[in-house]
Amino acid sequence: MTSAENSPGPVAPPAEADPRFALMDLAMSYLVPAALRAVAVLGVADHLTGGPRPVADLARAVGAHPLNLRRALRLLATHGIFTEDDEGRFALTPAAEPMRTDAPSSFRAAILMLTDATFWRPAGELEEAVRTGTSPFDRLFGMPFFDHFARDPGTAAVFHDGMASMSDPENPLVARALDLPPDAVVVDVGGGHGGLLLAVLREHPGARGVLFDQPHVLEGHRLGELGAEDRWDLVAGDFFAEAPPGDTYLLKRILHDWDDEHALRVLEHCRRAMSPHGRVLVADAVVPPGNDPDPGKVIDLLMMSSFTGRERTRADFDALFTRAGLRLTRVLPTDTRLSVVEGVAAV
Ligand SMILES: C[S@@+](CC[C@H](N)C(=O)[O-])C[C@H]1O[C@@H](n2cnc3c(N)ncnc32)[C@H](O)[C@@H]1O
Repeated sequence: MTSAENSPGPVAPPAEADPRFALMDLAMSYLVPAALRAVAVLGVADHLTGGPRPVADLARAVGAHPLNLRRALRLLATHGIFTEDDEGRFALTPAAEPMRTDAPSSFRAAILMLTDATFWRPAGELEEAVRTGTSPFDRLFGMPFFDHFARDPGTAAVFHDGMASMSDPENPLVARALDLPPDAVVVDVGGGHGGLLLAVLREHPGARGVLFDQPHVLEGHRLGELGAEDRWDLVAGDFFAEAPPGDTYLLKRILHDWDDEHALRVLEHCRRAMSPHGRVLVADAVVPPGNDPDPGKVIDLLMMSSFTGRERTRADFDALFTRAGLRLTRVLPTDTRLSVVEGVAAV
């Protein structure tokens, strides 16, 4: 044996130090939401409320292939969603609880919306949006996002129930962050089923509310849960054409759906309709500078791929408000991923 054969040769770096392994993990990370969707569609969590179950038993209950169900659950268990015991039985974990349809904290509808083909397919073709500046949504679905969801009640429910479920955990926290005049008339512009307005009216007992959205969306409203019918009104309409009168205009997760020209039209209608000392309160992500991770930088790509919108920086909001005849007065933090950007009439 020669001395060359004896030498250990170049020492391979530990796997963690080779960036290709991290890139490999990142490139395959879409399989986690794929598994999450499969398990949410099957309603697996609903069948675990009685305690741990063998996977064969669980597969029978949800109409699934036992081995493949186990493989999907095994991946989710690495994220703390479900757990497998030594006898091959799967059980709920705190992170899996919201996967239940009827859990008080249910997030299943939000998962079904966020992993729906209307988000998933355009995201798979993000390159088109990056290259052309235009969302692939219309090409893939034959019409713009909100037209697609207005088509029939089943389609509409995927988005509007999903949106309500996604907003549920943040609504009370956003409502708490608002300092409203005691007798405020709050217009929730594009307020969906009214989850935020409900939280605002509960948090601010002197306030009255107007839920403003498209007619088919208002049909599913939840304001009856307040138990005070005289404190709210429903107004069906198009926020590109009008806004009802009021003094406080809430726009939560609205402007981020739209490009500047459309966002401007919505703001201008609010500006025109509001009382002289009124305010607009825009609840959206405010994207921070720098390279640190931020949820706003993630959802921004959803706005790019399925909508024509974007998440904005403080400077972006400042410029948009100025064009709409508003003056940005402050940015209120909330205990959610959203901030509240406040604007008043500029003159
Ligand atoms: C992303 S959702 C936000 C819903 C709610 N603000 C929330 O945070 O849960 C956007 C809302 O805008 C509404 N919307 C879209 N286009 C509209 C229009 N032209 N006029 C009025 N509402 C509209 C949709 O029906 C939907 O409820």
